[in-house]
Amino acid sequence: MADSRQQQSPRPVRLAEYTPPAHLVDTVQLRFELGEEWTTVSSRLTVRANPERIEAGPLVLDGRELELLEVAVDGRPLGEGEYALDAESLTIPEVPERFTLEVTTRIRPQENTALEGLYKSSGTFCTQCEPEGFRRITYFPDRSDVMARYTTTIVADAQRYPVLLSNGNRIGAGTLTDGRHWVQWEDPFPKPSYLFALVGGDLARVADSYTTMSGRQVALHIYVEHGNEDKVDHAMRSLKEAMAWDEATYGRECDLDVYQIVAVEDFNMGAMENKGLNIFNTSAILAKPETATDADFQRIEAIIGHEYFHNWSGNRVTLRDWFQLSLKEGFTVFREQHFSADRYSAPVQRIEDVRRLRTAQFPEDDGPTAHPVRPDSYIEISNFYTPTVYEKGAEVVRMMYHLLGPEDFRRGTDLFFASHDGRAVTTEDFVRALEEASDRDLSQFRLWYTQAGTPRLFVDAEHDPGAATYTLHVRQEVPETPGQAHKQPMHIPVAVGLLDRAGNALPLRMEGEEPGGTTRVLELREAEQSFTFTGVGEDPVPSLLRGFSAPVRLEHDHRDQDLAFLLAHDEDLFTRWEAGQELACRSLFRGVAAYQAGDEMRLDETLVEAFGGLLRGDAGDKALVAEALTQPDEGYLADLMDWPVDPEAIHQARRFTRARLAQALGDDFLYSYQANQEGGEYRPDPGAIARRRLKNLSLAYLVAGGVGEGIEAAREQVHTATNMTDRLGALRPMVAEDVPGTAESLEAFYTQWKDEPEVMDKWFAIQATSPHYGTLAGIRRLLEHPAFNFKNPNKVRAVLGAFARGNPYRFHAPDGEAYTFFADQVLRLDRINPQMAAALARAFSRFRRYDEARQRLMREQLERIRQDPQLSRDTFEIVTKSLG
Ligand code: PHE
Ligand code: ZN
Repeated sequence: MADSRQQQSPRPVRLAEYTPPAHLVDTVQLRFELGEEWTTVSSRLTVRANPERIEAGPLVLDGRELELLEVAVDGRPLGEGEYALDAESLTIPEVPERFTLEVTTRIRPQENTALEGLYKSSGTFCTQCEPEGFRRITYFPDRSDVMARYTTTIVADAQRYPVLLSNGNRIGAGTLTDGRHWVQWEDPFPKPSYLFALVGGDLARVADSYTTMSGRQVALHIYVEHGNEDKVDHAMRSLKEAMAWDEATYGRECDLDVYQIVAVEDFNMGAMENKGLNIFNTSAILAKPETATDADFQRIEAIIGHEYFHNWSGNRVTLRDWFQLSLKEGFTVFREQHFSADRYSAPVQRIEDVRRLRTAQFPEDDGPTAHPVRPDSYIEISNFYTPTVYEKGAEVVRMMYHLLGPEDFRRGTDLFFASHDGRAVTTEDFVRALEEASDRDLSQFRLWYTQAGTPRLFVDAEHDPGAATYTLHVRQEVPETPGQAHKQPMHIPVAVGLLDRAGNALPLRMEGEEPGGTTRVLELREAEQSFTFTGVGEDPVPSLLRGFSAPVRLEHDHRDQDLAFLLAHDEDLFTRWEAGQELACRSLFRGVAAYQAGDEMRLDETLVEAFGGLLRGDAGDKALVAEALTQPDEGYLADLMDWPVDPEAIHQARRFTRARLAQALGDDFLYSYQANQEGGEYRPDPGAIARRRLKNLSLAYLVAGGVGEGIEAAREQVHTATNMTDRLGALRPMVAEDVPGTAESLEAFYTQWKDEPEVMDKWFAIQATSPHYGTLAGIRRLLEHPAFNFKNPNKVRAVLGAFARGNPYRFHAPDGEAYTFFADQVLRLDRINPQMAAALARAFSRFRRYDEARQRLMREQLERIRQDPQLSRDTFEIVTKSLG
């Protein structure tokens, strides 16, 4: 329908063409009559010409897939000739300076599979308005710089939809004589339409409350489907933790009387921060030890925090336009990561953040859809909820946090919130507030917002024993990206330390300075720059980019022994991990080369010793040991590999190394598996999580190595486990290796958990990512499985998303059949849910990284998708950009 792309190519929206809105809306009164066949939406807006504009001109409202029933200005219904309608807007040429506008539309939520606007998820009405869903509900200036006060009345069948929610406070309710009831909500805070929300359904409510730092009571209500009440404790606890953390860390207090969260099964993303009424994917809320893993518990806490933090960074201070998306997302991800670091282990959190950045954002920054943190054009804004806007955006905020230091940064955010409260602003306003609160000049730093591409740093070191100086020569290169051929040198903070030969950190002193601490942040601003330390008598080992102080690709000439040395001694825990990963990568690439040459692969002794040392050492932080022993994944290795990527060689080298490491260190892994067992009640606290992590990692190695005792232990654990972390910790490696008994265990798991959709997602994903079960035939079987559902994004992600991302060996099978199959699924999904289809289509975007045969096969599929006459704008953008 109107959803599909019209004949000609869609025109990009450009930041340079931004103009303030012609009309402003002060108040919005909405009335929803929720029905089984259709829903009627009546709105009453008070509108006025924007005084900032010399001439307001016609009133133009956004609207998509709406049936217009009536439109009236100041109470007078407009006739046919008095307005114009097209697929995306309603225009009224003649309007007064100030007026009330009434619009009535009819929509069909039960047929809405795109999950944008008002839709139904397992019988519950719910909304998703960010970024442009509100225009699928009613005609409205659907842009974030139009902020209004909303009053919402919802009318629905009392039996089927006893719970009727919207933003703000409940100010009235009643029953009608026809079996329907109504509830009225008023939101005291002006907000953009993307933060509007509505829910109608038969849901259970779990209630609690929080007393804020100034002593106000906030009611906390979490709504879930009946039967899930026992899975919200953790989310509720996390919410209270997040509220306390934002008070302590940013001085931000909750401004609401009631904070509501609703969990729905069908949701395109993780969760949504609608003012006072967050809507969450069930996967980001529901947890109990039997059904959720440690990673789920941690993810839930992070997402609850993230959405809560948006109440200030996003809602109280919002976006002028969608190019500013990272203003709320980058900052809020940074806040969320900091919250998680404080709750668990800061170095482990940092490692996980960096791993995610590298596996998702670095490839994006290096491919055809690369864009700056603040993009300057888009075809479909839904395609810009990217790792660049989120994760790189968070890195950019983090760099400023470290450049300013915690005190000045806090003064800067205080100033930002105080001066822009209730307004729609830009990333520039944020940077300026930080500058004003500190005496830092961030002019060159701003390039991080406007230049795409991951900078490369090349470091050479020079020791002069005579002069006792040590010099680091640093060169930077920002690669070319689409639309940006020439780059300027960036302002890059590089944190470094130096270790003497005994592994001690040296106090650092630069020419003409007093001696300082043992970490020094070098501020690189030129294309090439040298930094000299004095008083360095013996040749040290440099520890570079401590804490991953900037999102860059670093190249240096460390020898393997230096890496092993850093892994064993560096005081910076991130750099220790980094050295271990690099050691592992080098060894894997030697395996890749051997495999390609048809030679025998060999296991590196340095790696065996380093890993053995980690396992045997009594390193305090077990979580850190587990991180260090985790192999880099196939996708990350593919990203590091020189052209052409060889997914098969990567898979075989990684498999070989894992198995041989397990055999070489069998006793250590067995010991670690046994030593980290614990009885007692499950608790998702940092110590227990770390022990389970190390235990299950050891188990996975043992299974991979074909160690009999390990396989036995896994078979045992998969059915005796009392929590999902341990159950999956055994089942996953079994499925990965297909050891005898796996099929039976998978079947038993299914029988036990088939009624738990969140658990079924895991069951699907471990098969989709297994080289044995995730073959093309296997994936076809999973799609036909009765528990699979094409309309549920979690299921699509669990099978198709997991296959493309987590199983490159099978996805890139040389015959190209998986490509054809996958493109079929993209096209099929594009009719149902364009946002999800576009996300899947990204699997082909870096086809140029592969050999010519695979390139040709992938290009054929991209062309085939592009030619679909009904292709959505979402998928069209990804596919055309990929083809370049
Ligand atoms: N704004 C949401 C978040 O980051 C993400 C989201 C975007 C959800 C678009 C739905 C649609 O918290
Ligand atoms: Zn967000």
